[in-house]
Amino acid sequence: MRGIVLSGGSATRLRPCTKVTSKQLLPVYNRPMIYYPLNTLVKAGIREILIIVAPEQAGHYLNLLGSGRELGVKFTYEIQDQPRGLAEAFIIGENFIDRENICLILGDNIFEDDFSAQITEFKSGGHIFVKAVPDPERFGVAAVDAAGKVLSIEEKPSAPKSNLAVTGLYIFDSRVVEVAKQIQPSPRGELEITDLQRWYLEKGELHCSQVAGEWIDAGTFDSLLKAQIFAKEKMQDKMIL
Ligand code: G1P
Repeated sequence: MRGIVLSGGSATRLRPCTKVTSKQLLPVYNRPMIYYPLNTLVKAGIREILIIVAPEQAGHYLNLLGSGRELGVKFTYEIQDQPRGLAEAFIIGENFIDRENICLILGDNIFEDDFSAQITEFKSGGHIFVKAVPDPERFGVAAVDAAGKVLSIEEKPSAPKSNLAVTGLYIFDSRVVEVAKQIQPSPRGELEITDLQRWYLEKGELHCSQVAGEWIDAGTFDSLLKAQIFAKEKMQDKMIL
């Protein structure tokens, strides 16, 4: 299994803090934000990690994270020129993925859980991680039946069919690269990761787990503040980075 951390985007919601730096380099208590998703991958045993960054900050990421050698991992870097959507990560990462299974984590997502079991046991298809939230309309939303089977996936629906947000951690088999090349941009001009999930769903190959611990998408000022406090109080003993 290889890993991708998607750390692109222009983070206009966090202006002016993101005017001269990248959201995922902002501090979350005592570490840059990207350390948390990286930690999730490294703890799950992933050793080859592609970090996709916006061009303006590429040098900062290299200076901060380097080769990964002292952590026993190998970092590779690619540029996302424009914020064309999360699904583009699999097109940018095609050579890196190289027909292996791939685990994508968003650079602003902070998870308390350890996903080693799901990541190690993954064989094929797609796997998403959902969490009940009070504001599902901010996220991708999954409707799931009592047996845990995914019934539908929608991106930021105005009338959500459930309160289960699709978190920013995804595992796909290597077919995802070709699927990502086929999908069309949404009305907001982005290649949506929900369209990739729907492709696996329609084939009956989309699996789903519940996230038990805390999950924070630190993309707004309020969620960033929540992440800071959470990181201080609950994450310190879970970090190996
Ligand atoms: C993205 C995805 C959404 C997902 C969320 C998780 O939204 O499009 O499906 O629920 O990440 O953080 P964005 O943060 O780009 O608005």
